Amino acid sequence: MTPRKIIIDTDPGQDDAVAILLALACPDALDVLGVTCVAGNVPLERTHINARIICELAQRPDTRVFAGQDAPLSRDLVTAENVHGQSGLDGPELWTPQMPVQEQHAVDFIIDTLRSEPARTVTLCTLGPLTNIGAALRKAPDIAERIQEIVMMGGAYFEVGNITPAAEFNIYVDPQAAEIVFKAGIPIVMMPLDVTHKALTLKTRRQAFRDIGNNVGQFTADMLDFFERFDVEKYGADGGPLHDPCVIAYLLKPELFSGRFINVEIETTSALTLGMTVADWWRVTDRPANAMFMRDIDDAGFYDLLTTRLATL
Ligand code: BDR
Ligand code: CA
Repeated sequence: MTPRKIIIDTDPGQDDAVAILLALACPDALDVLGVTCVAGNVPLERTHINARIICELAQRPDTRVFAGQDAPLSRDLVTAENVHGQSGLDGPELWTPQMPVQEQHAVDFIIDTLRSEPARTVTLCTLGPLTNIGAALRKAPDIAERIQEIVMMGGAYFEVGNITPAAEFNIYVDPQAAEIVFKAGIPIVMMPLDVTHKALTLKTRRQAFRDIGNNVGQFTADMLDFFERFDVEKYGADGGPLHDPCVIAYLLKPELFSGRFINVEIETTSALTLGMTVADWWRVTDRPANAMFMRDIDDAGFYDLLTTRLATL
């Protein structure tokens, strides 16, 4: 089968890093056309460095990494160093990447790629705030109908919020961009906190990464040892939620996930619930469905997939 063409839009972030590693570990199934970086977990000047460190770790310095928007469309940037550390990838020893960042702006790369590839053959995998995608849709509305699908980590319904009581981080950072995306008529698959909070980095799972015995396994375990401490303290669980790799896992094994095709709207004005994903899970409105909202995951199968694939790097 021809590998599926994807663009990974990301703000690494330890969990973003694992998602990128998983994608690069699957050249048989996924053709990573580019990695587009956005400000989110840490500022933009750090996210594209982190993305390149991960590509070098995967021994894929040929991967094209682009820098995009350094702030949300119409509000100040909110970052999450308290979760990810100052570098965004705290845990393992980091280095200065040798591979270059591309000269083209990430938003222009997204637009050009969608216009030059056959319509509906490129999937956008979004792992951070939706600023780059919102900016691309604003600048070039014609690309909306050329996107095969957006598979995103973002939002929540039953778990509600992680950055505020009502909102998940990626949507909260740029609700205006999220609104543009959800109103564009693009097929959307969401991996909300309702799924990712079931994908916990249990001690045995971190050990399994270490036991792979390659650099990638060791680096991943070191990142997750640091990453999980925040959520372990917060939720009292044995391990933290590995959010972003759910997006890539869905492309590889959609049967690991289940959910409902429902209407999802973004709260963009309320001070109290800004960035909330108002998900009509119970179908109590007649608003048209616009997103496949996932709720469950086969977490054992997910970690099995991750460990098996990362072992190939
Ligand atoms: C999301 O926010 C970030 O901290 C993670 O990388 C993930 O994309 C979870 O809310
Ligand atoms: Ca992320």
